[in-house]
Amino acid sequence: MSGALITLEGVEGSGKTTQMMRLERWLRQQGRKVEHTREPDGTRLGVAVRRLFERPGVHPQPLVEVFLFMAARQQHVAEKIRPWLDRGRVVLCDRYADATVAYQGYARGVDPDLIRELNVRATSGVLPDLTLLFDLDPAEGLKRNRLKGRRLDRFEREAIAFHRRVRRGYLEICRAEPKRVRLIRAARPPAVVEAEVRAIVEEFLRGA
Ligand SMILES: Nc1ncnc2c1ncn2[C@@H]1O[C@H](COP(=O)(O)OP(=O)(O)O)[C@@H](O)[C@H]1O
Ligand SMILES: [Mg+2]
Repeated sequence: MSGALITLEGVEGSGKTTQMMRLERWLRQQGRKVEHTREPDGTRLGVAVRRLFERPGVHPQPLVEVFLFMAARQQHVAEKIRPWLDRGRVVLCDRYADATVAYQGYARGVDPDLIRELNVRATSGVLPDLTLLFDLDPAEGLKRNRLKGRRLDRFEREAIAFHRRVRRGYLEICRAEPKRVRLIRAARPPAVVEAEVRAIVEEFLRGA
């Protein structure tokens, strides 16, 4: 495998999607071959999983959420991420393995170490080479998203306390693996965040 997997993580509204699109454009300008994708809807099966979460009367237990996201992840790695990496692509993925540790682990109370183990299996060992963690007060992120005015999903509808646990979970993940997981203060203008993202990714790709 010769490509690189870069994941973008953070609470709702922290700027993951915005920065992924900007980073992709910039990497293309640098002549890099880039792909972007997102979890869980990177595959048809993943789209079905996301829709299942939104079905009325569907209330998965925390561990069931874990299994469903892991199922989507295994399919995503097999259908898209590994083939891209094999072709030497830089792969940008909007949420990935750490999201399950933060959301279902730290925020919903499933053992984070169990989730880490399942992630190794579900990814077939395809773990991120670099993770950009957009750190933001979740109240600010939810406010940004409300401005967009679209319907909130199952996770966005959770209480603010849930989102604060997600944020703390991500910070734990970062503390445990500071070399892989790079913390970016996301409460700054998009162009400022983008410049820091570029600097981090440039340094990473030079060393890769
Ligand atoms: N640095 C920023 N400052 C203010 N608003 C931002 C910033 N980055 C993104 N936004 C806006 O906040 C909303 C959420 O951003 P988005 O990239 O969709 O976040 P995420 O993908 O992490 O949920 C969007 O409306 C976006 O335009
Ligand atoms: Mg997004």
